[in-house]
Order: sequence, then C-alpha cells, then structure tokens
Amino acid sequence: MIYPIIAYGNPLLRRTCTDVAMNDQLKVVVDNMFETMNHCNGVGLAAPQVGITGRIFIVDNTKTKGDDGRRAEDEPDVKEVFINAEILEEFDKPTSMEEGCLSIPGIYGNVVRPGSVRIRYYDGNYQLQVKVFHGFAARIIQHEYDHIEGILFVDKLKSVKKQMIRRKLEDIKKGVVDTKYKMKFASL
Ligand code: CO
Repeated sequence: MIYPIIAYGNPLLRRTCTDVAMNDQLKVVVDNMFETMNHCNGVGLAAPQVGITGRIFIVDNTKTKGDDGRRAEDEPDVKEVFINAEILEEFDKPTSMEEGCLSIPGIYGNVVRPGSVRIRYYDGNYQLQVKVFHGFAARIIQHEYDHIEGILFVDKLKSVKKQMIRRKLEDIKKGVVDTKYKMKFASL
C-alpha cells in the first residue's frame, strides 16, 4: 500500500517519535514504507512522513550510484530499515551537501553534517545492530533520524536561504504544490 506523504506544515512532522513494538503489524508498515519510497523515487523515508509517530525510517542508496555525484564509487549498498534507532556518535569532518525531502517538494538546500555516524537500531528481522555508516548513506541516515526527532532539513539552512524559500514553504503549507505522488496537507 502506498501511503500519502505528509506535507510541510502538518504538525505530524514535528512530533518526537517513540519506540515501536516489533510485531507482525510493523512488518506490514515497513513493507508499505518501502513501496511508498520507491513510488516517490526517494532515497529515504521516515514514519512521520506517512503519519506514523514511531521511531522507524528506511534508507536506500542503491539507485544513486554514480548518477548525481552524491554517492562515491566505493560506498557500499545500503538498503535497510532502522527501528527504534539511537545515534551513538557522529564523527568525521562535517561536509555540506544539497538535500531535499519528499515532504517539502521543490525545495533544495545545502546542509552541513558530520561525515559518519555510529548507530544502534533493530533491523528488518528485529535483530539488534550497531553499525558505522559513511558518506551518502550517513547523510540519508542523519536526515531521516532528524525526522523521527521532529526536525526538518529546512531548519538547518542558513538564514539567507531560509528567507529565500519562505514563500515556497508557505505555498506547500497551503497545498499549492505539484507532485507526482499524493500528499496530505495541514488542515487549515
Ligand atoms: Co525528509
């Protein structure tokens, strides 16, 4: 099942998410999230973006190799679900990279983030993992992890850039935006 994407301005995106129960129902949610992300051509998706305030996000860098310069040639494939995740450490030189978000269509901006993360989470088989990720995968993980903390990439843009996108953000809030996927806007 493809979920509609919760748009910028909807308070659901601003909630701090809580841990979820790892049961059969969650497997259905995760499958639906992957279906939704693929439908939207995303590289990541977090539960609040589909209206679920649980600590779940998915990451898929496998379709990005070499096509846009975001992912280095030697970076391994990461297609993974992160359940009840906790970032343990962020390290390596901070880099600036342009980000976008399915909940904020048409807006892109440079965000500075540390190069690597060490994260503890449960995978799709509900096995506890502690892993280190670098490069583009680390970038996606940090972006999605922010979602489950109620933080959006536009919060992290420089103030000049924030000014530049202010009207566009207002338009998205009002539902004045064109996407190939279905969105759910804030009730006005
Ligand atoms: Co996002």
